[in-house]
Amino acid sequence: MATVSRQKSSLLGQFNETRTRTLSLVQTLEKDDFVVQTAPFMSPPKWHLGHVSWLLEVVMSKSIKDYEFYSQEFSEYLNSYYHQFGEPHDKDKRGLATRPTVDQVFEYFHMMTNKVDGILQNEKLDEKTKQLFFMAINHECQHQELLIYDLQHLLADRYRPVIKNSMHRTPEQESQAIKINGGLYKMGYSGDEFCYDIELPEHNVYLNDYKIDAYPITNKQYMKFIDDGGYDDFKYWLSDGWDKVQNEKWKAPMYWEKIDGKWMTCDFLGKRKINPSEPVCHVSYYEADAYCKWAGKRLPTEAEWEKAACWDDKNQRKTIFPWGDNPPDNTRANLLESYIWNCDEIGSYPNGKSHYGCHQMIGDVWEWTSSEFSGYIDP
Ligand SMILES: [Fe+2]
Repeated sequence: MATVSRQKSSLLGQFNETRTRTLSLVQTLEKDDFVVQTAPFMSPPKWHLGHVSWLLEVVMSKSIKDYEFYSQEFSEYLNSYYHQFGEPHDKDKRGLATRPTVDQVFEYFHMMTNKVDGILQNEKLDEKTKQLFFMAINHECQHQELLIYDLQHLLADRYRPVIKNSMHRTPEQESQAIKINGGLYKMGYSGDEFCYDIELPEHNVYLNDYKIDAYPITNKQYMKFIDDGGYDDFKYWLSDGWDKVQNEKWKAPMYWEKIDGKWMTCDFLGKRKINPSEPVCHVSYYEADAYCKWAGKRLPTEAEWEKAACWDDKNQRKTIFPWGDNPPDNTRANLLESYIWNCDEIGSYPNGKSHYGCHQMIGDVWEWTSSEFSGYIDP
């Protein structure tokens, strides 16, 4: 994911940087690519471009009196799940709509860029409105990430990035577990930078002592689970997960294919052998949970993960990033702006490890926790 930092530049600068980056991600697509939805869980690139622009209208409607949306038809198609703005179009049918057209969506994208650019240049904005625009910028960064995982499904090795850098190559790392003391931990956000409402309020959680791996689980580790019959034995799986394994004939993570006895994948780096040193990705919650059971481990809770990622025990405080409060760079984390177009090998970012010594807690790959997604409780 790309990051935006308030210290780096003005709200206007961050806005324009984000809009430019969104356009650069689709710069090399053919017009036909913009319309197609290849799975119910992905969205056509046209929809992402329109949706992030529509959300700017939502923000403007909350800060400009009697704001009128550009088009009722656009609002219906581009609404994701905000019922206050009407009935959203079915997510799994976004690829069936030929209207608005690709050209109309681009026109709309530029129109909204110019409109917001004008507001940020000219208007004296109150703090609440600035926060709303900052939220919209972060929302667009999230959709850049979603767009990229959709492009993996749509195009994989046929996608041509505008900028492409090389991966790090790191000597193989020994997996190790880090012990973390329990006790009361204040989970959530309490700083004065931007955060989403779901990160509030900061609240006490009691943790037992626990251990957490220093690195994400690698393909090599996961292959041992497969080779040991992990997908063939119900005892590792939650009941729903085992149904999926049976009904959908799961044998390996998504995008893995066994050719001539070797596990292969096809991604932005091309058709290639599975690299044992990369973190395993494209695994469902069920697979992550089953792997842990097989390995004699368990997924961390969200609070355990957060403490391992950002608690500085020496100074008794949380930091914004695993390594401290300084913003990310290419030596600390593999984010979108690295333009590697892949997970990097484990151990590639020693400068980015957390205070407890956990590597790659941001960037590279999303990590599963065992916690359900629910609102924090106000103490
Ligand atoms: Fe969204």
